[in-house]
Amino acid sequence: MTAEIIDITTDREKALERACAVLADGFPVAIPTETVYGLAADATNPAAITRIYETKGRPRFNPLICHMSDLAMAERYAVFDPVSKKLAETFWPGPLTLILPLRPESGIHSLATAGLDTVGIRLPKGFAADLIRAYGKPLAAPSANTSGGVSPTSARHVADDLGDKLKLVIDGGAAPVGVESTILRVESGALRLLRPGGVAGEEIETATGLTVIRPEGPAAIIEAPGMLASHYAPGASVRLNADHVEPGEVLIRLGAVPVKGIEQAAAIFDLSPSGDLAEAAANLFDYLKRADATGATRIAVTPIPGHGLGEAINDRLARAAAPRK
Ligand code: TXA
Ligand code: MG
Repeated sequence: MTAEIIDITTDREKALERACAVLADGFPVAIPTETVYGLAADATNPAAITRIYETKGRPRFNPLICHMSDLAMAERYAVFDPVSKKLAETFWPGPLTLILPLRPESGIHSLATAGLDTVGIRLPKGFAADLIRAYGKPLAAPSANTSGGVSPTSARHVADDLGDKLKLVIDGGAAPVGVESTILRVESGALRLLRPGGVAGEEIETATGLTVIRPEGPAAIIEAPGMLASHYAPGASVRLNADHVEPGEVLIRLGAVPVKGIEQAAAIFDLSPSGDLAEAAANLFDYLKRADATGATRIAVTPIPGHGLGEAINDRLARAAAPRK
């Protein structure tokens, strides 16, 4: 099988039609979202959800994020408390996933929720929202990459990795946010951050007036099992907080920070010459892949500030650098 690739800038209607047909047949479709490309399948169809796991080579079933076209649709599948409703109204459509009580008998298959009585929901922007509206049912979608690898931010990334396992890849250009959604759970009025992502923690605190409770360490995030320590792993090893370059290393930096031995770098990738963290997040996965493609054995990365989207960037980098299984 070689995936058909349809570009929405020239063939949007055809893309919607073909995607709906493949989804209705029970197969996954790779689609653009504002965060990363997703491997989307009908969240009510167990065979379709199983194919997501087969395609990714994911060893076991994790709960998947169910994508909705609008708040009314989301409310048919999940129960919103007032704080979650406020978050939804403020940040949707956008890169925020809320973990909410699942409405029993709502139709979302237990393979999508891994049998939990909660469901992770988000409303994506753009083509993904139009597709869900056209299809009429929620789409379960993890990132469209082989399990454990770097998430795709372009149709080319998806096609290179999974092109021979997919029927259809929709090309919507570069994903503007570049890191996955922030995952939040509201618990007795408190906000628990399960995964930092495209909405900064500070923005959530400003919108709600509540403090975001952060996990104490990677081990605390077991509740989001996609977030195991080693994840987003390129082929090369990754060395963080680098202030120098060692022979054979390729460098990923943020702006023109001083780096000793920079002339030894096999290549240099600058996440954002002006030090803008949103730009850095948008470039992160693409630059990890490009750095990897140089064939260097190690990628050195300069320190990234921890505020704003820096929290999500540092989370992904820590996982890329974690010891491999
Ligand atoms: O930006 C994104 O969120 C991308 C795009 C495609 O939308 N999707 C994505 O999905 O990253 P995925 O499946 O790779 O990440 C889902 C994460 C997992 O870590 C999972 O454990 C957690 O969300 N999750 C989903 N449902 C949950 C639930 N009911 N309780 C706790 N964690 C949940
Ligand atoms: Mg993923």
